Amino acid sequence: MINISKELETLNQSFVAAQEIGVIKAVSTGDSYDGRKVTVRGKDAVFFGNCSYMGLDQHDEIKAAAKEGIDKYGMYFSSSRSFMGLEIFEKMEEAIEKMYDQPVNVTTSTTFAHVSNFPILLGKDDAVILDLYVHSSLQTAINITRNSGIHVEYIRHSRIDLLEERIKELKEKHKNVWYMIDGVYSMMGDGAPMKDIKVLLDKYEQFHVYADDAHGTSWTGKNGVGYVLNEMGKHEKLYLGLSMAKGFGVGGGLMVYPNKETKELVKTLGTNMVFSGPPHPGVAAAAIKSAEIHMRAEFADWQLELKQKIEYFWKKANQLNLPLSGDHKTPIFYVVLGSLENVFYASKYLVDHGAFVDTCSFPSVPMNKSGLRMTISRFITLQDIDNVLNNLNDAYTQLEQMGKADREKMKKLMQPKKARVLVH
Ligand SMILES: Cc1ncc(COP(=O)(O)O)c(C=O)c1O
Repeated sequence: MINISKELETLNQSFVAAQEIGVIKAVSTGDSYDGRKVTVRGKDAVFFGNCSYMGLDQHDEIKAAAKEGIDKYGMYFSSSRSFMGLEIFEKMEEAIEKMYDQPVNVTTSTTFAHVSNFPILLGKDDAVILDLYVHSSLQTAINITRNSGIHVEYIRHSRIDLLEERIKELKEKHKNVWYMIDGVYSMMGDGAPMKDIKVLLDKYEQFHVYADDAHGTSWTGKNGVGYVLNEMGKHEKLYLGLSMAKGFGVGGGLMVYPNKETKELVKTLGTNMVFSGPPHPGVAAAAIKSAEIHMRAEFADWQLELKQKIEYFWKKANQLNLPLSGDHKTPIFYVVLGSLENVFYASKYLVDHGAFVDTCSFPSVPMNKSGLRMTISRFITLQDIDNVLNNLNDAYTQLEQMGKADREKMKKLMQPKKARVLVH
């Protein structure tokens, strides 16, 4: 019998309780899935947890490309690319490089992208500043790299004023100072302040940025290059870890570099580029098709269609006075309920009323900011948005009537601590 810590035991008990009422670790039954609906315990629910924002996972041409890839090359090519790869893997990178107009490497997951990148990008004399809310995959990769002696510290979320102070101090003792962030933060959906970050990149020679823009990929920017590049454009000291498993619709991880030399170094020496297997041929073929679709004129129309739904959600949530995590307009919305008990109540209420949303608690978010995360994909209709928000408002009102929740208190809790705005 293993012994887990008291904290993990408490967490486990909450998760088991949530699983029993069907709001976490839920399983959609049935022999098909269309991108919009899941079936939870025999009942259909509109899926507000889908991160395939552009709906490309269901695109006929992408599905056909994947099938053809498997027919031509088989289910899997079982060799590290360090020894032998298939030409289709090189073609996949070329297709994605056209989309980004920058050098690109592809691996089987975003976590692997970070794990491969960090030992190459970070020198032992460098300092790393991690945003407090940065995705767990970056923290994992940093923990693996830490042994090399790099200095690592955390900074309060998106506090550019504090960041500048730390850069000034750290640059005196370290060769490079790295800031690690999410482009669009995966839980609360806010975007990193890229315009201010660019000012710092231009101002301090030793300052570098590594951004995980998994949730910014595809739904915004020309050709779907994502939130970070859309906000600040390319930069010689900007490195990106991205995802093909969300808006891109096919699965896998991407790395985008400011120059070809770094791409080649990671491709030759990166941990998972050497020791892990390649993407599946079906995924590679699908990725080539997805990149091509991203560059079509109609893709911009689809982005606009999604952005209109995002705007609609944001307006409606504000009209209902639901406490959102921030004032951003990305496909991730987060309504704060405070306690875990409230979150379970509201998510169960929504499942009972035909919508599945993500139940979020510690360690994904701070304990007192437990809430519901709702993602908007192109499959979601305006009527779906009306239904989920009206029902959430009803659940919130019931909690308030029971004296368990307070929207105004939650709104105050989520107000950003004023960060000094840089002069541009
Ligand atoms: C921001 C972010 N980065 C990285 C990951 C991990 O991606 P992967 O499963 O491809 O490693 C996720 C997972 O959803 C994520 O949200």
